Amino acid sequence: MATKLSVNINKIATLRNSRGGDNPSVVKAAIDCQKFGADGITVHPRPDERHIRYSDVREIKDIITTEFNIEGNPLEDKFVQLVLETKPTQVTLVPDDPGQLTSNHGWDTIGKAEYLRQIIAVFKNAGIRVSIFVDPMEEIVAAAAATGTDRVELYTEAYAKHFHDNKETAIADYTKAALVANAHGLGLNAGHDLDVDNLAYFVQNVPGLLEVSIGHALISDALYYGLENTIQLYKRQLG
Ligand code: PXP
Repeated sequence: MATKLSVNINKIATLRNSRGGDNPSVVKAAIDCQKFGADGITVHPRPDERHIRYSDVREIKDIITTEFNIEGNPLEDKFVQLVLETKPTQVTLVPDDPGQLTSNHGWDTIGKAEYLRQIIAVFKNAGIRVSIFVDPMEEIVAAAAATGTDRVELYTEAYAKHFHDNKETAIADYTKAALVANAHGLGLNAGHDLDVDNLAYFVQNVPGLLEVSIGHALISDALYYGLENTIQLYKRQLG
């Protein structure tokens, strides 16, 4: 089965927020991304609501016909309540600090094992699939299996950064981490800095990759190629 493309629409909200008003509309963007072939929509509400707002998440929820993925830090009770209320297909837990520019590390699944077990159970008991954001380290992925999570999302910033220097070296840890996830029966997602150049090689070398979530590069490419062409271009990379 082809790897699914979930489009992160936070950047649409960032553009809208720069002027106030509702242009561009995140609801229209979500509808159009799905119409143009996206397999899912991702949003990442942060506590200061500088990108997607909590009210956007509630509105978008009603028009999702594909998979809805909400990312965020469950240390914020407001986030936990939002997810339980809107019941997305998947919640991706990310250990980002409130003011952080963008996510920059995965969970310590060893040190935070008990906390993760408890919070993951809250979402799973509500019937929501859970994925946790992790660095591509075999021991971290192996420990993730003990938390009860359904999936892990591999943090791909390091891959993207080194892809153009040496793609074989850049992918090595990800292939190894994927094999550990497969062996433990964990579903596998990936995201961060994936783009139209580095995506196909990643998918071809990471066994069992179920889903990628892509925001920054895809929305930036859409300025040049249009949203429909861009989504199709990314889908083609996924094979
Ligand atoms: N996955 C997670 C957990 C993220 O925080 C982000 C960025 O919000 C992404 C994926 C998407 O990253 P990018 O915008 O670089 O495609």
